[in-house]
Amino acid sequence: MKAKKECLLLLSSPAAADALLMAPLKPWKTAPLLLAVLCLGFLLLQLMPASFIRHPIHDASDTWTSVNPKRSSVGVASSLLLDDISQNLSEKQEQGMKAMSMIASQGALGTNGKISEETMTPGAHIFLCTDDMDIRPLIVVINSTIINSREPHQIHFHIVAPEKGHMDWLIKLKTWFPDVNIDLVRLETDLQLVSRHISFRSDSKAREELASPYNFLPFYLPHIFKQFERIIYLDSDVVVKGDIQELNQLDLEGKAVAAVEDCSQMFKIYFNFDLLTAILEKERRDISWLPYKLIEPNTCIFNRGVLLIDVKRWIHENLTEAIEWWMGKFREAEKPLYKYGLSQPPFLLALYRKYKKLEVTWNVRGLGRNEFSEIEREYMKTVLSKKPARRPFLAPLADGAKVLHFNGKYKPWKRNRLSHPNSQPVSLCGLKAIDCAELWWHYLSPVADASLKPIDKYGLRTDSNEASQRTQLLNDTAELL
Ligand SMILES: *[C@@H]1O[C@H](CO)[C@@H](O)[C@H](O)[C@H]1NC(C)=O
Ligand SMILES: *[C@@H]1O[C@H](CO)[C@@H](O)[C@H](O)[C@H]1NC(C)=O
Ligand SMILES: *[C@@H]1O[C@H](CO)[C@@H](O)[C@H](O)[C@H]1NC(C)=O
Ligand SMILES: *[C@@H]1O[C@H](CO)[C@@H](O)[C@H](O)[C@H]1NC(C)=O
Repeated sequence: MKAKKECLLLLSSPAAADALLMAPLKPWKTAPLLLAVLCLGFLLLQLMPASFIRHPIHDASDTWTSVNPKRSSVGVASSLLLDDISQNLSEKQEQGMKAMSMIASQGALGTNGKISEETMTPGAHIFLCTDDMDIRPLIVVINSTIINSREPHQIHFHIVAPEKGHMDWLIKLKTWFPDVNIDLVRLETDLQLVSRHISFRSDSKAREELASPYNFLPFYLPHIFKQFERIIYLDSDVVVKGDIQELNQLDLEGKAVAAVEDCSQMFKIYFNFDLLTAILEKERRDISWLPYKLIEPNTCIFNRGVLLIDVKRWIHENLTEAIEWWMGKFREAEKPLYKYGLSQPPFLLALYRKYKKLEVTWNVRGLGRNEFSEIEREYMKTVLSKKPARRPFLAPLADGAKVLHFNGKYKPWKRNRLSHPNSQPVSLCGLKAIDCAELWWHYLSPVADASLKPIDKYGLRTDSNEASQRTQLLNDTAELL
């Protein structure tokens, strides 16, 4: 204020103005700083990954090609990245040490389903159950969920996984997501209870790995975690592209579960209807949770990979008991009551006409499959206006997806990050028909991938073998799950 007045006084007399003009020029103090910042900015720009690339030898016409969509240039880009990766890896290892001491000081290891008070705060509680020792799928679920959420601090992850890996996983998770609420859950006793009901029949055309108790755990979550009002269950092979709070806050309209309907498959493909009808005829009057009318074979199925569960209602409607009951019928029957799956079919029976339909964008599925079944091709004719080829699998709805689901045998992380230029993508996504696997890899940085890849018995990071992948691709078992 005072300085301003003096200045005005000075300027009001011509002599003073002269004196001002004659004064030696003062350098602008911030100029060097500004220049330095600008220079640094340009330097940093150089460090950005290249988006366009020109091959200095093979490209006489001097044209620049985009790094991303063209497979041919990818090899160059990936070798450029290697130095960068190994440097960043050692940085990450340091962060890992920090995370470890943080965990030790907080005593953050989960205990027997008893979750600390702080995680019971409102918000979205997401449950993931896995016994896969490869942590990368979880990293992708967490990363994509957090990045695409408007309120990441409102999201809590509860991971149910074998206890022996907990410490290692917690360090990795805290290293990559220091600010995310993640909790590892220990549950040996409950697992035994779950396993008692599981039976694998080789005549049911299901993959044996589906018999893992972790595959059935989602049906027990409401009993193990009664303290929550709602539970979101996600399969570990998903990418979340929508805001998960939107799902969490959905009106369930009095239903116990919300799931996405899938009309490319009907009940009749899964079930032996002679057997099913006979069981219902005999028992439906005595058991309260059985549908009173017979089950209609042309009912659309619904996928259990993305579920919103109202915990109280689930328990009230005896849904876990109903699923176990159907699993018992499956075990006892002479012929398989259902096929192509072990956990999905009893779930379908227990929730027949009892679930709320979610928008299809919440579970755009099949991205880990390489082909359509004949029935699906017929169905796709109504969607695409012409019958698609059997291979590859197409997911035209992927563009607007809130959850991409890589169910099926061909998981992106079991193949290489950059598929071989000549290899056929497993599945194609969206109207631009891009390789669906790319949408998964988008959420796992090369550095995270290199540091988190499981190590094989020779101490090497496993890299999937293209040749064995290809023989697998040739193996056409109808892959319905
Ligand atoms: C390595 O780290 C730097 C800065 O932390 C980052 O700009 C760069 O993208 C990272 N490189 C890779 C390959 O992720
Ligand atoms: C759930 O089971 C209990 C005990 O078996 C029974 O009393 C109750 O009616 C059942 N509820 C429903 C909705 O079927
Ligand atoms: C998470 O996804 C973002 C977006 O693609 C990516 O930049 C980041 O590196 C990913 N984080 C990890 C740990 O891979
Ligand atoms: C193809 O699948 C069948 C049944 O799942 C299996 O027995 C066979 O070994 C598989 N063949 C190859 C080449 O993977």
